[in-house]
Amino acid sequence: MSEGSRIPGFYRLSIVERRVLVAERSGVPVSELEESLAGGGLDSKKADKVVENVLGTYGLPFGVALNVRVNGKDHLVPMVVEEPSVIAAASNAARMVRASGGFTAEVSEALMTGQVQLVDVPSPARAIARLVHETPRLLELARQAVPNLVARGGGPREIEVRDLGSGCLVLHVYVDCRDAMGANLVNAIAEAIGPSAAEFSGGNLGLRILSNLCDRRRVRVRCRVHPRDLGLSARGSERPSDAPPGTDMPSSPPPANEAYVDGGFVADRIVLASRFAELDPYRAATHNKGLMNGVDAVVLASGNDFRAVEAGAHAYAARSGRYAPLAVWRRDGEDLVGELEMPLALGTVGGTLRVHPLAQTALRLMHVTSADELSMVAASVGLASNLAALRALATEGIQRGHMSLHARSVAVAAGAHGAEVEAIAMTMVEQGRITLEAARAALAALRR
Ligand code: MEV
Repeated sequence: MSEGSRIPGFYRLSIVERRVLVAERSGVPVSELEESLAGGGLDSKKADKVVENVLGTYGLPFGVALNVRVNGKDHLVPMVVEEPSVIAAASNAARMVRASGGFTAEVSEALMTGQVQLVDVPSPARAIARLVHETPRLLELARQAVPNLVARGGGPREIEVRDLGSGCLVLHVYVDCRDAMGANLVNAIAEAIGPSAAEFSGGNLGLRILSNLCDRRRVRVRCRVHPRDLGLSARGSERPSDAPPGTDMPSSPPPANEAYVDGGFVADRIVLASRFAELDPYRAATHNKGLMNGVDAVVLASGNDFRAVEAGAHAYAARSGRYAPLAVWRRDGEDLVGELEMPLALGTVGGTLRVHPLAQTALRLMHVTSADELSMVAASVGLASNLAALRALATEGIQRGHMSLHARSVAVAAGAHGAEVEAIAMTMVEQGRITLEAARAALAALRR
């Protein structure tokens, strides 16, 4: 899939045409795609086996981000999200990054953390020494709790003990979960070693549960953008052929009568926006929200636990004691360089994937072969989302882009079909009046 995620004009196609094209590019048979998309990928009967008191299922848009290249490999990236602009903006930013070679990503050692709380420990120092001494026995007990994981080459790797004070210790067991997210595996291990750990400590057993601050399972993504790809016309009127409405990205010089926002200026403004987030937790929260727009949408599409990802991301962002941005931007020579680092516990086997056909198909569309690769792709989409948001905020603000998307839904509500939708939306944006009456009037004029 070397150019596989680059599809100019994709947004203009009908849903049926998009499905055919995505099937062709990904090698997933269109019949499989159709089947798994039917009914949102999960019927009530299956849903009834997943959670309790089921009445039905709840649909969300399932789209695909284009232009994503990670470590030299192209990915069509399924995203599930209800917010307009998120998929278009991520695709657009990924295109800018792609022009300078794409994202480079890596994962850390990929270990999940299980916690065993030990309370009423009479002599913490002696307990720590004993627990360290008994590490081989504890690791053996842990291995016995997850024989299948061990057979797949994963399993417990390391034990660490921390003194929390007031007679409370916490034992961490670090587990390589291979391609599973690993919550059940880690919990099984924590529960299996808990009683022995309590005995060795001379205290009592407290909680045994994984930590969602999985800071030994981190992903790091970097990208570089040349200023030539960042500039925009003051009215944002130029759009490349594959950018949906509301996502402006000039690829040619602006008309002579329009002011041009220079790419170098945009890069500097993005660095200023990054510094703002670095200095102010109020801004950092929103900065990270924009980035999580991309990450969560991929996490959801791939059937993973977005609450776990969110909890880990924000705890990691606050690890210094001050809430900070997960991604930062700097100039490097002429280029703008972005870097994102966050904990990310994702799986490509087990969990929801067992029951959700669309999540399984999403992974096949994405061409990821491991949980590590999925994490690198999801984080790249997060960095792309962050870039798109900062570029818009640092120049024209985000309302303009949102307005043209809003105009499209108003046009549809007024009865526009096919190409009419875009034409009516453009008319309303140009008139600066986006109302149902304006849409109806424009539609009547168009059909006359
Ligand atoms: C909206 O969903 C996300 C933004 O607020 C992110 C940001 O401010 O960076 C646009």
